[in-house]
Amino acid sequence: MRKKIIAGNWKMNKTPKEAVELINMLKTQVDSNIVDVIFCVPAIDIIPAVEALKGTKIAVGAQNVYFEESGAYTGETSPAMLKECGVEYVIIGHSERRQYFAETNETVNKKVKKVIEHGMTPIMCCGETLEQRELGVTIEFVRTQIKGGLAGVDGEDVKRMVIAYEPIWAIGTGKTATNDQAQEVCGAIRTVVSEIFGKEVANEVRIQYGGSVNGKNAAELFAKPDIDGGLVGGASLKAEFGEIVNY
Ligand code: 13P
Repeated sequence: MRKKIIAGNWKMNKTPKEAVELINMLKTQVDSNIVDVIFCVPAIDIIPAVEALKGTKIAVGAQNVYFEESGAYTGETSPAMLKECGVEYVIIGHSERRQYFAETNETVNKKVKKVIEHGMTPIMCCGETLEQRELGVTIEFVRTQIKGGLAGVDGEDVKRMVIAYEPIWAIGTGKTATNDQAQEVCGAIRTVVSEIFGKEVANEVRIQYGGSVNGKNAAELFAKPDIDGGLVGGASLKAEFGEIVNY
């Protein structure tokens, strides 16, 4: 039985001071005993977030990382830096990073490997545009993202990973995928993982749905057989995140 995992992706919101305020409010509302809960905060908020979450079971995640160890890469954050600060999860290949920061399946793959090497858990994102959905190529496109992102990764490591399916047309739009649409693609992701790494790995890897998850639709989405939780944007910045976690 896979444990549910619910992560908040704060995106570029909250200064360090605001982050601590939000955490102090949310940590009283979130029951992290039954599900895994993660706050993926901006890099500058990681240290105060780890401090504010001491004594709770809520983990801190980053929203990006670079795939080199150190050196002349102005503006980037290394995996060792994140690890030393107490980061346990790293979102990789979010569609916003693919769209605005030229992230590709190849860079996603390098980052996934680095994050694993440094003992953290990747939350690897995938998902189609509205145009791709309308053209009927969603499954094919997502399969390619999964194959590219996981190329050369060890099956034992894939077992412990998280994959987030986020249809781009559902992100920040209030237009959630239907439960069946979300299940169809999450199921297809488990199938491609099974084809590459075998049934055992596919049974253990956790797959989240993301895209306008809220307090009202979370329970039905998370009840689907291949949906093991959610990656939540907008609603993770409010008390509503407590309703989602306590679904
Ligand atoms: P929203 O929940 O705001 O649609 O964002 C989803 C998302 O992109 C999480 O990574």
